[in-house]
Amino acid sequence: MSLACRITPSILSCDPSQFRTAVEEMIAGGCDGIHFDVMDGQFVPPITFGADLVQSLRDMTDLPFDTHLMTETPDAHFDAFIRAGSQRVAFHVETTSHAHRLAQSLRERGVEASVAINPATPVEVVWPVLDVVENVLVMTVNPGWGGQSLIESCVEKVRAIRDRAKGIEITVDGGVDPSTIRRLWDAGATTFVTGSYLMKAPSIAKGITELRSLCG
Ligand code: DX5
Ligand code: ZN
Repeated sequence: MSLACRITPSILSCDPSQFRTAVEEMIAGGCDGIHFDVMDGQFVPPITFGADLVQSLRDMTDLPFDTHLMTETPDAHFDAFIRAGSQRVAFHVETTSHAHRLAQSLRERGVEASVAINPATPVEVVWPVLDVVENVLVMTVNPGWGGQSLIESCVEKVRAIRDRAKGIEITVDGGVDPSTIRRLWDAGATTFVTGSYLMKAPSIAKGITELRSLCG
């Protein structure tokens, strides 16, 4: 379980016609993986992309791909995104009565299990699955859109998880930029999903370097 600072950019804010170019820059810029925000128009209003997109970028790198399923019935999509090349799949605890079983089924498929929680979801809901997931994905914005501001109350959720599980990876997703990453790191987050900040940075590489310099 790596607890070093990891920067895993999301392609959500990229121009879809430039996905490959953006991923090339992320890789060249030293990212630790690529984060795919999959939205079904049901769990969240927008619709983004399917497993074919993940598949189309898989040949670019051996870096881990992590798929964030913001979808209802996430387990209906596990096999497609694993076949497409995801090493980690995150499902939202809000979408199932069987988070423990879904986490187990991801591990049985040979990938890392990640459980995601929305800002309004009490952090205690993940306590029963901490021993069957590799990662907890704490949404630090309301899921569905990039470019939002950090929801400050989510920082304490990160701290609560770290206090309870010293060795687990904690990913934060949403509103991560140079003004927020340090307090998220200090609270115990280790993996940082960032999208819109990198699009605004002088370059993707400089953005990744700047974020990494502020943590770890
Ligand atoms: C929301 C997405 C975003 C995205 C990062 O559903 O999950 O959090 O990855 O967006 P930024 O970095 O633009 O807040
Ligand atoms: Zn995400």
